[in-house]
Amino acid sequence: MCGITGYVGYRQVTPVLLETLKKLEYRGYDSAGIAVLHEQALLVRKMKGPLKVLAERLASETIEGSLGIGHTRWATHGEPSDINSHPHTDVAGHIAVVHNGIIENYAKLKEWLQAQGVVFRSDTDTEVIAHLINYYYGKNRKKQENDSGTEDALLHAVLQTLTRLEGSYALGLIAIENNDFPDRLIAVRKDSPLIVGLGKGEHFIASDVPALLGYTREVYFLEDREVAVLYRDHVDLFTEQGEQIHRAPSHIDWDMASAEKGGYAHFMLKEIHEQAKAFTDTLRPRLTREAQGWDITLDEIKLDAGWAAAPRIVITACGTAWHAAMVGKYAFEHFARIPVEVDIASEYRYRNPVFNPQDIFIVISQSGETADTLAAMRLAKQGGARILAITNTVGSTLSREAHLVLYTWAGPEIAVASTKAFTTQLLCLYLLALKIGVLRSKVPDVDRYLGALRDMADKAAQILHKQELIQRFASRQFNKDKVFFIGRQFDYAVSLECALKLKEISYTHSEAFAAGELKHGPIALVDTNTLVVALATQRELFDKIVSNIREVTARGAATWVITWEGETVFNAIADEVFTLPQTEDSLSPLLSIIPAQLFAYYCAVQKGNDPDKPRNLAKSVTVE
Ligand code: F6R
Repeated sequence: MCGITGYVGYRQVTPVLLETLKKLEYRGYDSAGIAVLHEQALLVRKMKGPLKVLAERLASETIEGSLGIGHTRWATHGEPSDINSHPHTDVAGHIAVVHNGIIENYAKLKEWLQAQGVVFRSDTDTEVIAHLINYYYGKNRKKQENDSGTEDALLHAVLQTLTRLEGSYALGLIAIENNDFPDRLIAVRKDSPLIVGLGKGEHFIASDVPALLGYTREVYFLEDREVAVLYRDHVDLFTEQGEQIHRAPSHIDWDMASAEKGGYAHFMLKEIHEQAKAFTDTLRPRLTREAQGWDITLDEIKLDAGWAAAPRIVITACGTAWHAAMVGKYAFEHFARIPVEVDIASEYRYRNPVFNPQDIFIVISQSGETADTLAAMRLAKQGGARILAITNTVGSTLSREAHLVLYTWAGPEIAVASTKAFTTQLLCLYLLALKIGVLRSKVPDVDRYLGALRDMADKAAQILHKQELIQRFASRQFNKDKVFFIGRQFDYAVSLECALKLKEISYTHSEAFAAGELKHGPIALVDTNTLVVALATQRELFDKIVSNIREVTARGAATWVITWEGETVFNAIADEVFTLPQTEDSLSPLLSIIPAQLFAYYCAVQKGNDPDKPRNLAKSVTVE
């Protein structure tokens, strides 16, 4: 996730920018840069790599100034490189912009600007913003000269630019303004966080509270579509329409450690809660409204008839990503009616697999660096397969070596146990399955499913609001010897991930079983110190799962059922029932995993474990 900082005041700005950016490093980044107003020129220094390399470079020159913006970039559009790093400027270098978010219509805007003669230097979506502001600023200045008007040409240009942007953005910008205005910094927010820090004779912007705690605890949390103009001695807030807003600042009393976690006790809990936003970020750029209804646009991979005709889909991955693949199998078979083979990457690479160049070969990896997953991909590539990668990490080895890439846009995942990466992997797989299903004329009612997907962020938020129920339940169950997750169909696939979450952070022995398999062996393990969690979201299989619950309660197990709101069939037979807001049965994994993630988290906390750093595990497994 990109990090933004900015300063206007009386101090030398470069050290302030470096120090505040350092406090945002936890968000993850691949490049860093600053722009400073130095002797009436905008000086931009930016490069791929860690902040400390940028700091070393800056130490070798004298940059004087007390107005500037800084940025750490987590690449979205365009690979990590010096040129794609922020800040970006207009052609003359009079306006510098830093951006966090995604401009969804940037390709159209770029085309339009190119038609006006603008020459682009980077592959980013952000660069269009600098050129657009410059375009309107030039027009406004000309109008001023002709009408001797007094409007604020730069602020007006920013507001005009905002009317053309679609997507999410937090922006910081500085400009050379022909001495019309004292030094000032403009900040804007829509769907990406940005805060304004209030000092005495100095003001700041930052993506997150930790960056500012060394300077001030008085802040404005910018609301969506608010614009802040920061001077040394005051800050003005405006609506996007230019109307001034007055409100009292907030006081921050978090300490630094909790500030980095956004007030959450652990990164894992923060990331579980970020899932609603991650759904929106992953989905929104890919759903477009057409005359006949909503459509899935996967421009980045350009699905053609060849995809629709593929005889088979093969998916490989490890760990949580492999569980996403298991859900993907059910989704592709359900929506697209294509046979799917799912393989653990470490097995695939050693089992002499049979290739078919017509197959679609999907590789899933949050980090894009997992050694076994990369080896499986390379093997398939050698065999002539077309490789589609689903990853969260732009510039990763997987993203560079795959033929096509679909990004999950979950933002950096810091906790070792994967949460939001998993659910956004599911979302990408569902989009692919529906898109291929439509191409194969297998989903006549696609609008129904796209509507359900659009509602998913709200539904995730509703579940997260009930986290205390799960916390209380975990406080009663965390000491169980064994926890078994059971389910059928989509519920079985997601059970695998539920069991992994619990075992990796609570160290409880937990397993997932296809509910129909219980009586073929696993039921021998069930006793009075066992909790059985039944995922029950496949309505046509309710009777079967009721029988499975009876089988385990008869052997003394405690039971927890995760099912839909309004379904009462389990109330009389389970010890505890947790309900999910209703959606399509086939999309249930997007929601049913959330209570299981929270359960794992609270069991780990009850046991005194650090959920962010489970024993023996690393975030990225780059060795075999
Ligand atoms: C579990 C977890 C791991 C990873 C696995 C693959 O919470 O995070 O099981 O899913 O190591 O990692 P990626 O997705 O980076 O290839």
